[in-house]
Amino acid sequence: MSQAPQPLGAPVVRREGRDKVTGAARYAAERGLPGCLYAWPVPAAVPAGRVTAVRTVDALAQPGVHSVLTHDNAPRIQEPDDPILAVLQNDRVPHRGWPVALVVADTLASARAGARALHITYETAPHDVVLTEDHPGLYTPENANGGYPAVRERGDFDRAFEASPVRIDATYTLGALHNHPMEPHASTAHWSPDGHLTVYDSSQGATTVRDTLAAAFGLRTDQVTAVSEHVGGGFGSKGTPRPQAVLAAMAALHTGRPVELALPRRQMPAVVGHRAPTVQRVRLGARPDGTLTALAQEVVTHTSTIKEFVEQAAVPARVMYGSPSSRTTHRVVALDVPTPSWMRAPGEAPGMYALESAMDELAAELGIDPVQLRLRNDPADEPDSGKPFSSRGLAACLREGAERFGWHERDPAPGTRREGALLIGSGVASATYPVYASACHASAHAAADGSYRVAVNATDIGTGARTVLAQIAADVLRTPLDNLTIDIGDSDLPDGPVAGGSSGTASWGWAVHKAASALVERLDAHTGPLPDGGVTATADTTEETAEKSPYARHAFGAHFAEVAVDTRTGEVRMRRMLGVFAAGRILNSRTARSQFIGGMTMGIGMALTEGSTLDPVFGDFTERDLASYHVPACADVPGIEAHWIEEDDPHLNPMGSKGIGEIGIVGAAAAIGNAFRHATGVRLRTLPLTPDRVL
Ligand code: MOS
Repeated sequence: MSQAPQPLGAPVVRREGRDKVTGAARYAAERGLPGCLYAWPVPAAVPAGRVTAVRTVDALAQPGVHSVLTHDNAPRIQEPDDPILAVLQNDRVPHRGWPVALVVADTLASARAGARALHITYETAPHDVVLTEDHPGLYTPENANGGYPAVRERGDFDRAFEASPVRIDATYTLGALHNHPMEPHASTAHWSPDGHLTVYDSSQGATTVRDTLAAAFGLRTDQVTAVSEHVGGGFGSKGTPRPQAVLAAMAALHTGRPVELALPRRQMPAVVGHRAPTVQRVRLGARPDGTLTALAQEVVTHTSTIKEFVEQAAVPARVMYGSPSSRTTHRVVALDVPTPSWMRAPGEAPGMYALESAMDELAAELGIDPVQLRLRNDPADEPDSGKPFSSRGLAACLREGAERFGWHERDPAPGTRREGALLIGSGVASATYPVYASACHASAHAAADGSYRVAVNATDIGTGARTVLAQIAADVLRTPLDNLTIDIGDSDLPDGPVAGGSSGTASWGWAVHKAASALVERLDAHTGPLPDGGVTATADTTEETAEKSPYARHAFGAHFAEVAVDTRTGEVRMRRMLGVFAAGRILNSRTARSQFIGGMTMGIGMALTEGSTLDPVFGDFTERDLASYHVPACADVPGIEAHWIEEDDPHLNPMGSKGIGEIGIVGAAAAIGNAFRHATGVRLRTLPLTPDRVL
């Protein structure tokens, strides 16, 4: 044993880091299976209607083209729970970009050439892709996403708002946003002669991919293996199985050969989900001292015609600030659009943009410092449920952030700080994200030689999950990290939930902690040398994760941002940004910092560069590649810092951790928007703050 145990919290480097930077790490489309064919999906060219004919003769005549799958000849699958997976089963086109054919060829270039040579005819139907706040199709669903009731009322909002001496009534409009992980959604599928299906899939949760494919193809779960060994990002878009896995498995079945399918970047926006656009009306009523008396957040959003997905943007308003009356509602309209889905901090990211912008408007109206306004309305108990918080570090984050940022030196008057043609301003916003954990299985094994092996079907989507799980196990086993092997990313390992909802580490870590603890007990009870096969302990956290907590459990944070606005070009540049987070115990300071900074960077994109337009005529997103959909580059993020407050919260999980994957984006765009308003004196209630809007 060459090194002392490294405690939880240490900045341990990623276990797979070297493999990734040297190219040794293999992703889903890099398996190099012998005899592998390549598939290219063909997206629907009309926004609504049906396919009347697919003429394949020219495509099949292309050199190297092996087959063309359409709804006429593709394997039939059992109806999946998720309708977006029912591809090539019928002639219906629910939105532009829906896969209507799949060309399979010896090379990627041949598959693509085959796709170009296909002749597809359609019968079109009228379509509507434009979300408006008074759309006649709007309805109130029972629940928004996450099982949250769509409507919550507390007290008499209308009366309280009417009676409030100070009132804000503002509507914020956000367009769609796209996940665009670096690695596109990709699958390599092959069927072995005994009928076992193996799919290497770029997914946030291989157990779900296995179960979904087994159900679709009428197999037992032990007849399917899903492998997600390395995943190049997902941000929620890989949190549920995606059509490429089904298509690759279909094509492999059809051809009898392994098939590799990497979604072309330009097809991703229509196929892998998007953050739904929202129109959010926020009304705040307050007394002159800043105490909130009335709060309403009313959200309008879209879903597709095949699935109800309701961005839960008003939910964080049920957590954030005390107010004797509140109304939080969601309405949705089913349009002929691609189906929206999870994108980093769904609900919280758009919802807190609106709420935290409105809080800034209220602070300006009242002439109260925006940090003070938030502190004044920091509730003792969760406003929606009345439950006590297990811990609530918002005030500490605001205070420490203000101190570190130099907030007290700020002149509150807007539009007063000039540097030549630049206007400079700073802004603040709060962050919050719920604490979730799901049931998980894990095993821990002690070998006769004294080494350990831990197994859990966790997924590392770039977060460092593999590393932090090893730390958790090593901590319990009191062994050096290099004496421990950890296996993740394979559905043949003990079942684990998805890397999503900022709950991966809590869920997998809980099971790893339990299995390792059980192993320690067994080893303590053991006398003499271990048997040749070693000793194994397993764990299942179904019971403890299902327990209802008497506490409201959330992570909190505060963002501070400084921007420069060029009055000649309309360009808005983030100059420096600082976040302070309270997320329980931080288990690895290196990977945690990169999660926080990654989230904040995505918030910078949301505020300044990422724009998506639904074309009303063609019925599709017009920005479909990274040349037109601008994610922040290094030059867009000149100075960024993440700090945290260590919380000792005994009401979470054995590690004492809250999730950290999503909170970094929550409120980040509002802080930048508020800084823009401070710089210019002008309030824009839409994003991104691109020059065309600024000038
Ligand atoms: Mo996240 S949007 O829960 O993967």
